[in-house]
Amino acid sequence: VLHKKSTYIGELLEDVADRFAFQLNQRGIQIAFTVDPYLKINPIQVDSDKLDQVLDNLVSNASKFSHDSGKIEMSAIVNQKKWIEIAVKDSGIGIPSTDLPRIFDRFFRVEKARSRNRGGTGLGLSISREIVRAHGGQIFISSELNQGTTVRFTLPIDNQDGSEPL
Ligand SMILES: Nc1ncnc2c1ncn2[C@@H]1O[C@H](COP(=O)(O)OP(=O)(O)OP(=O)(O)O)[C@@H](O)[C@H]1O
Ligand SMILES: [Mg+2]
Repeated sequence: VLHKKSTYIGELLEDVADRFAFQLNQRGIQIAFTVDPYLKINPIQVDSDKLDQVLDNLVSNASKFSHDSGKIEMSAIVNQKKWIEIAVKDSGIGIPSTDLPRIFDRFFRVEKARSRNRGGTGLGLSISREIVRAHGGQIFISSELNQGTTVRFTLPIDNQDGSEPL
């Protein structure tokens, strides 16, 4: 069940960056975000608590699987005023292509040995996908071993009152 309310997406990105600022700073990992100007003046109907959960998991993953002095980039763009697309990109250890098809499965972790010492139960991505799908969106992952990983997800902009968005 979603509890949607008018939300400025840029604030969600800023807040997640703030929550991780201390631990990222300690490891010399930079975090940056860019937000489509459209989203700065148009709030979107989303369940912001649930989206926080998605963003926390994606940034937590980006952090866990990054080397010190790495970089994490978040972005939110708008497509044809119908969809927004949020991306979290890291320059970390990446995921072998053979594991990508199972990456959203419950409890799936790449090479349990490498994941174990970083903690985690392997549920974050499957929960993230459930939340994105509940909003009517889709989630995608792309990764290059030893280069980094990008997770992007879409959310529909549903203007419930039927008015045209700005
Ligand atoms: N950004 C990333 N870079 C490299 N590997 C990743 C990245 N994100 C996820 N993975 C791989 O996918 C696995 C599943 O991620 P997921 O977020 O579902 O679980 P977790 O982070 O291990 O545990 P949890 O999120 O439940 O604390 C991870 O264990 C890791 O092997
Ligand atoms: Mg996780």
